[in-house]
Amino acid sequence: MKKKFTTSAIRNQKPRSQYREHSVPLYLTSSFVFPSAENMADTFSGKEEGIIYSRYSNPNTDEFIQKVCEMEGAEAGFATATGMAAVFASMAAFLVSGDHVIASRAVFGSTHQILTSFLANWGITFTYVEPTDVDSWEKHIQKNTKMIVLETPSNPGLTLVNLKKAGKLAKKHNLILNVDNCFATPYLQSPVAYGADLVVHSATKFMDGQGRVLGGIVVGKKELIDKVIFFCRHTGPAMSPFNAWVLSKSLETLSLRMERHCANALKLAKFLEESKQVKMVLYPHLKSHPQYKLAKKQMSLGGSLVTFEIKGGQKRAMRFLNAIQLCSLTSNLGDSRSIVTHPTSTTHSKLTEEERLSVGIKPGMIRISVGLEDVEDIIADVKQALKKS
Ligand SMILES: Cc1ncc(COP(=O)(O)O)c(C=O)c1O
Repeated sequence: MKKKFTTSAIRNQKPRSQYREHSVPLYLTSSFVFPSAENMADTFSGKEEGIIYSRYSNPNTDEFIQKVCEMEGAEAGFATATGMAAVFASMAAFLVSGDHVIASRAVFGSTHQILTSFLANWGITFTYVEPTDVDSWEKHIQKNTKMIVLETPSNPGLTLVNLKKAGKLAKKHNLILNVDNCFATPYLQSPVAYGADLVVHSATKFMDGQGRVLGGIVVGKKELIDKVIFFCRHTGPAMSPFNAWVLSKSLETLSLRMERHCANALKLAKFLEESKQVKMVLYPHLKSHPQYKLAKKQMSLGGSLVTFEIKGGQKRAMRFLNAIQLCSLTSNLGDSRSIVTHPTSTTHSKLTEEERLSVGIKPGMIRISVGLEDVEDIIADVKQALKKS
């Protein structure tokens, strides 16, 4: 029976011990014992199925992976210590010297660093392409192109990539389509349905949803995930069983949380759109978003992130942040608590001014990860900070 989204997150409570607990216990153990030398040998050789060592697998990480696979409609997965470990593994497991990557220009800052600072050391080249114009990507495909890397919506510019077009292009040229689905979560968007071969997440964000643990995951086609598993087992970025235990429980409320995040975010975006202190607001499900039609098509709701440009540039943006009272000034997102950041001076400060502007990050840009508080309180805080700034 194919389970529905939230049921997948709630009814994957395996394994159950002799105590018949309702929630999966925490298997905080680095290794597992074997009943005999023969069984140990057979498990190591793969003849017998079994859990060997928590760098390879663990009942808690298995539970988390199983849930995310069902939510994403993917065949298999591997859970990692952080989102960046998942992003890196999804590239490093496949790319070899001489390969070429097509990457959407609007990717997360650390993904940009992998592409620009590390891949070149291993003889792997890449070309940045415009996220809003997938039709223009084909001319950049080379004989040695192996993978397309993209993120939609992007952090922090909330630029979308047309997944249907990217899926068709990848299929036509037999390329691995690798999609970071962190901002949308599997509740709002299903990249696999559009042909994504690999989907990565920072589980640190909405999957945890309460700002407690770090985590990441790569899911996708089994034959590809087998390569990710081989890479991760031997290079060691495994998720801790404790974090997997926390995350598995969090997934049970993902759909409820996303409904509230998105409803609050839409109300805040509409408020900001009306404000005379604001130059422009970006929110995928606002009619004024340049890709509104696409957002309505490929995202069931608009997400929790609202980005806006305050009149008066960076100085005023800093004053706005200093005037904030209820929301938090922190670099995370996807938390139950609303979070305000200034990308130019924080998450994207390592990029050059030119690089920032090329992905639409202006000095007066502010990103709000809209939380689960009463929306009237979030709006009141933003309103008083706009006034004070
Ligand atoms: C889109 C996206 N991908 C990946 C990451 C990296 O995740 P982590 O911080 O869990 O390594 C982030 C973090 O903010 C992100 O926003």
